[in-house]
Amino acid sequence: VSLRPFNTLSVEATAETFIEILEKEDLQTLYREGFFRKFDPFILGGGSNVLFRDNPSRPVLKISLKGIDIVAENDSSVQVRAGAGDVWHDLVEFAVQRGYGGIENLALIPGTVGAAPIQNIGAYGSEIEQVFSSLEFFDVQEGTFRSFTREECHFGYRDSIFKRDLRGRAIVTSVTLNLTKKDHNLITDYYSLTQRLREKGIEDPGIRDIFDAVVFIRKSKLPDPKEIGNAGSFFKNPVIPRDQFKQIQRNHPDIPFFEAAEGYIKVPAGWLIEQCEWKGKKVGKTGTYEHQALVIVNHGSASGKEIYQLAERIQSSVFEKFGIALTPEVNIVG
Ligand code: EPU
Repeated sequence: VSLRPFNTLSVEATAETFIEILEKEDLQTLYREGFFRKFDPFILGGGSNVLFRDNPSRPVLKISLKGIDIVAENDSSVQVRAGAGDVWHDLVEFAVQRGYGGIENLALIPGTVGAAPIQNIGAYGSEIEQVFSSLEFFDVQEGTFRSFTREECHFGYRDSIFKRDLRGRAIVTSVTLNLTKKDHNLITDYYSLTQRLREKGIEDPGIRDIFDAVVFIRKSKLPDPKEIGNAGSFFKNPVIPRDQFKQIQRNHPDIPFFEAAEGYIKVPAGWLIEQCEWKGKKVGKTGTYEHQALVIVNHGSASGKEIYQLAERIQSSVFEKFGIALTPEVNIVG
C-alpha cells in the first residue's frame, strides 16, 4: 500500500502490511491471533507528524475509530469523548459551534484526536493537557482496554508517557475532554493572538473570536498540507539553561524567548533556523516554508531521505552557530 495519501509531508513510501482498525474489537481480534507478539506495528493517525524516511519495515495500523459524544454534562461543564480516528479540528468545531470552551486555541492543528495527547498538542498558549480528562487505550501486551487520567499521562511539552514508558505498547482508542459551558478560561496572551484580536478591534473576545483569530494566524503562517506537503513544526523549541541563553542574547539582543522551568529558557527553533539563513530556502524538492522556518516543506516529490537530510543540515547549522542541538518533533520512521 502506498503511504503517500496517509502522510501530510506527501512522501512516497510503501507499507507491506496495512491494516485499518474500524472497531475496537478489531484490536482484540489481532491480539488473539498473536499479531502483537509477532509484530511491533507503527500506529498511524492523520499522518501529520510523521516522516517516512524509508519504507517502514513494520506493519502499519491505521486507527479509524470514530464518534464524538457528550458523556457527562452539568450547568457549567461538559465532558466530550471522541474517537482516536476523529479529525482533531472536527472536534474543535464541534465544541466551538456549541459554545464549549477549552480547545478554541487548538483550532486547525492537523491530525487525529488519538494523536493529540501523545504529543500533548499545543498552540497559542494552550495545551490539550489543560482540558484533558481521560483517555482509553488498548494495551497490546495485556490485550485489554485501559483508562488513564491526566496524571497518569505524564504530560510535558510535546511529550507524554506514550512517547516514553508506553511507547509501542498503547494504542489510543478514545479521548475525553472537560470543556466549559460558562466562565470560560480564555487564553489570549500569546503575542500573535493578542495582536490579531486588537487588529480586529475585539476587546472582550469569546470562544468564537479566539477560534477565528487562531484560524486566521495559522492560515497566514503555516502552509496547508493539501497545497504544500508539511508536518507543522519539524523540530521542538529547545529549552536551554539560562546561562547559555544569556550568552546568546549578548550577541543577539533581539532573540525571542519564553520562561521555562526554573533556570531554563525556551527559544523558538524557527528563529534559530532563520538566523542560519534557512528561511524560505529551497534544496532540491524540499526546503523550509517562506513564512515559518520551523516548517519543512515538500515542494513536490521530495523523498523521505531528502527531507531527512535537509533536517540534518539544519540541525548542524544551528548547532555550529548557537551550540544548540535541535530535536525533531516529527516522528521519523524507517
Ligand atoms: N520566528 C522567527 N522566524 C521564523 C519562525 C518564527 O523569527 O521563521 C519567531 C517569531 O517571530 C516568534 C517566535 O519565533 O517571535 C515564535 O514563532 P511562532 O509564534 O510562529 O511559534 P513557534 O514557536 O515557531 C510554536 C509551536 C507551533 C504552534 C505555535 C503557536 C512548537 C515546536 N511549535 O511554534 O506548533 O502552532 O507555537 O503556538 O512548539 C507544531 O507543533 O507542529 C506547531 C505548528
